[in-house]
This record gives sequence, structure tokens and C-alpha cells, in this order.
Amino acid sequence: MGYNDDIKMLIDAQDLTLPPPEREPQRQYYFIKKCREIVKKKSEELGRPLYACSVCMGCQMNARDSEKLSGILVQVGYTLTESEEDADLVLYNTCTVRDNANQRVYGRLGYLNSLKKKNPHLRIILCGCMMQEASVIEKIRRSYRFVDLIFGTHNIFKFAQLLCTMYENQEMIVDIWQETDQIVEELPVQRKYAYKSGINIMFGCNNFCSYCIVPYVRGRERSREPKEILREIERLVEDGVVEIMLLGQNVNSYGKNLEEPITFAALLREVEKIEGLKRIRFMTSHPKDLSDELIEVMRDSRKICRHLHLPVQAGSDRILQAMNRRYTKEQYLSLVQKIKTAIPDIAITTDIIVGFPGETLPDVEETIDVVKKVQYDNAFTFIYSKRTGTPAASMEDQVPEEVVREGFDKLLKVVQDTARERAALLQGKVMEALVEEVNEQDPSLMTGRLSNNMLVHFPASESMIGKLVNVSLDTCHGFYYTGHIVD
Ligand code: 5AD
Ligand code: SF4
Repeated sequence: MGYNDDIKMLIDAQDLTLPPPEREPQRQYYFIKKCREIVKKKSEELGRPLYACSVCMGCQMNARDSEKLSGILVQVGYTLTESEEDADLVLYNTCTVRDNANQRVYGRLGYLNSLKKKNPHLRIILCGCMMQEASVIEKIRRSYRFVDLIFGTHNIFKFAQLLCTMYENQEMIVDIWQETDQIVEELPVQRKYAYKSGINIMFGCNNFCSYCIVPYVRGRERSREPKEILREIERLVEDGVVEIMLLGQNVNSYGKNLEEPITFAALLREVEKIEGLKRIRFMTSHPKDLSDELIEVMRDSRKICRHLHLPVQAGSDRILQAMNRRYTKEQYLSLVQKIKTAIPDIAITTDIIVGFPGETLPDVEETIDVVKKVQYDNAFTFIYSKRTGTPAASMEDQVPEEVVREGFDKLLKVVQDTARERAALLQGKVMEALVEEVNEQDPSLMTGRLSNNMLVHFPASESMIGKLVNVSLDTCHGFYYTGHIVD
């Protein structure tokens, strides 16, 4: 029996003639069962299943939250659909890290309004990071009154209860918490992939980089107990998962605030011991907290993938300081050197922001210098986005768009050239790939992911999905390879 089957039994066992239990997660099991009756009745009235469309707009943390939300939707009786047009319920799990994420939500809400006019029983639900901003809630209350339910990042475990409240009310329900120290486990999860899964090891962030809204919308750092994490991974492995990604805004500070403190490296050592688990990834590392112990554990591990995402954000010391990153360019470069010396086959990727207040073209040259020296395998480059409430938003010297563009384009070219050079180095090598999915363009090919996070396409059958195979990387096409399986 799988994880969801175990939970389903606990839901079935709830007695709806009694008041809801006070304790979590039993309380949510009760509301799931209650929602089931409502959904079933509606479905009988319509003579068809009810469809739900759950859309995730954010990072891996949000994607994991969406799997939990979809898990509840399935348990209450919805059939999941990709299409908003066919849906009886649409759920957007939003991001707010850059303003364009917010604009996209408003754009899509306009479209949902037109769908709701045709289909008045359509339920529209918004949750996630963007909903933690008071100004957003105000705007939705004012201009998007057709939204049925809004909740935030701290109370997603209450989704079943909120669904019940929504069914019983006509007005918009808004439930946003400013903080929580509650971590509710043991709720249903609808995983997107059978063979790999993300796992939250911590929530929130204490770093307060001056451009970043995350600490305001995700709250203070809270680590999960190691034994809960290990238990969750063991159960995933029993369910057929071979690769896991440990998730946190800053995994390198994992465990510091637990009653019995433990380091991230020590957690990794325990995860490594789980039999049947083949690959371990993690996201995201803050350079200031990356320990020698972690480098050692990675070096000695057979399971931790040869990939480290190490956001640098900028190369100029002045800008790094204004960003409150708490390292200098030299410190970052010597950390990278240390990592590469210990683990020569590691792929390093990064995030970079261009256009932070006060950044000049010579500052961007410093960033370009870092890219050249580190030789990133990939870098995500972002144009600075002003987030209300962050210290950077009120800094003087916001950079004019043309200056940002010029620096950005120049940086992007170096990033792409470097990544291409790095990829070319592996052409002709044989490497292990996890077979992930059928190639979108050519269904005779499968797509596999290498330990270093690069993709390779090769002829194979769909039955290979979830298996590890050795692949010869015959041709490098810049950012991916084509190849063939070797025995
Ligand atoms: N503007 C642009 N990019 C940002 N990021 C975070 N906040 C902002 C912002 N205000 C980027 C950082 C981070 C990634 C997830 O998003 O590079 O590492
Ligand atoms: Fe993820 Fe941050 Fe976006 Fe939230 S705001 S979805 S934590 S990137």
C-alpha cells in the first residue's frame, strides 16, 4: 500500500456525525471527508465528474506545495485537468519573487472572469507567495471580486477546511496568516512524477537579502525534524521514487534551530543510507553558509548528484554588500575553487540579478568576470525587480532600463558561451542518466537527466521511465545532448 492509501484509510475512518477533531492532521481528514460528500452530490447533480485545474507558477517549493494541494483535490473527489476551460475549480499557486509573476496572475484572472461568466459555478482559488502581500489582497478585493477563496503560504495544510467554508459561503473567503510555527505532516500528496520527488526540509528564510521578498512572504526559518524527513523519504522510496530533491530557501543553514541541532551535511549522510534511493539533489545553497563538512559529504557520496546551485547574484563587492549577501567576490571565488578541487566533476549553476539599485556597467563587468572565472554550467539571469517592502525598493539610484538592458545582454552572452563550452567538454563521454519522459518533439526518443542536471535525448522505450541507464553523449547541441544507451 502506498502513502496515499494509508492516508485514505484514515480519512475514511472519520465520523462526520461528531464535531471536527481539534488536532491536525485529523481535523483536515474530517474536512476532506466532508468535502467529498459535497463534491459527490454536485457531481451526481451534473451527471459527470467534477474537474479541477491546479496551476503552479513558482519555484520548486511552490511546486511541492502544489502537489499537496492537488493531493487534497483528488482526495475530495476532483479529477485533475490541465485545461482551465473544462474545469469546475481553478487553483493558482502564485509566486511574487519578481513583479512579472504578479502581472501574469492579474492577466490570467481577467481570462478566468470571462470563463466564470459562461460557467457561474466555476470556483476560483488563489494561494501562495503573492497572496501574503497586503496590497495584492486589497487589489483583488477591489477589482477581482469573482475570486472565491484566497489563502497564503502558512496555512496550505488547511486547504480542505477552507474548501468546505468556500462551498458553504457565497462571499470571497480570505485567510492569510502572517507567521506560523506549525508544520503539519501526513496529508495527501499527488506527485507529478512517479520516480522523483521534492521534499521540504525547511520553510522560510532569515537572510533578508535586500532585494528579496521571500522572507516577508514565507516567514522565518523553520527546519523539519530529521526523523520526519527520513521517514518521508523512506516512504517515497517504497512508492518507487529513486531521486529526491531536498528543498529549502537556504539548505545550508538547515537544523540550526532544532531542539537537537544538526547540520545539513549530517542530514545528507543519513539520507544517503536509505536503501533503494539512488540520487539526492538539494536546492538552494547560500554561499555564506556552505561548510567544509558539506563539501566532504558531497565528495564522498555515491548518491549526491554532481550539481551545486550556488547563487552569486552579483560580482561587485559594493553591490554584494548593498544586497546584504554577506560575502565578497573573492570569498565566493575561493569557495568555488575549494569545491572544484574537492569534486572536479561538479557542475555549478547560479542566479544573477542585473540592475540592482546603484549598479553600473563596470559593476556588471565584475559579474561577468565571476562567470568567466567560475565557468558556470548554467546561470539564470534576472533583471532586478523592485519589490515593495524590501530595503532595496526605497534605495536611491534605481537603474534606468537602457543601462540594465545593456549590462544584461552582455552578461547573457558570456553566460551562454561559457555554458556551451562546458557542455562541449562532455561530448563523447558515457554517463548515467535517469530516464524522465518521452521527448516532446520526437516520441521515439526519451529524455534523461544526468547527475550534473544536463539533459540527453536517446532512443528508448517509455517503459524505461524511472530507470537509470548509461548513455553515450554522442553530440552536444549547446545546452543538451543526443546519444544512445550503452550496456
Ligand atoms: N528581482 C530580480 N530577481 C530576484 N530574485 C529574487 N528577488 C529578485 C528581485 N527582486 C532572483 C534571485 C534568486 C532567484 C530565485 O530570483 O536571483 O536567487
Ligand atoms: Fe518560490 Fe520565492 Fe516565488 Fe515563493 S516567491 S514561489 S518562495 S521563488
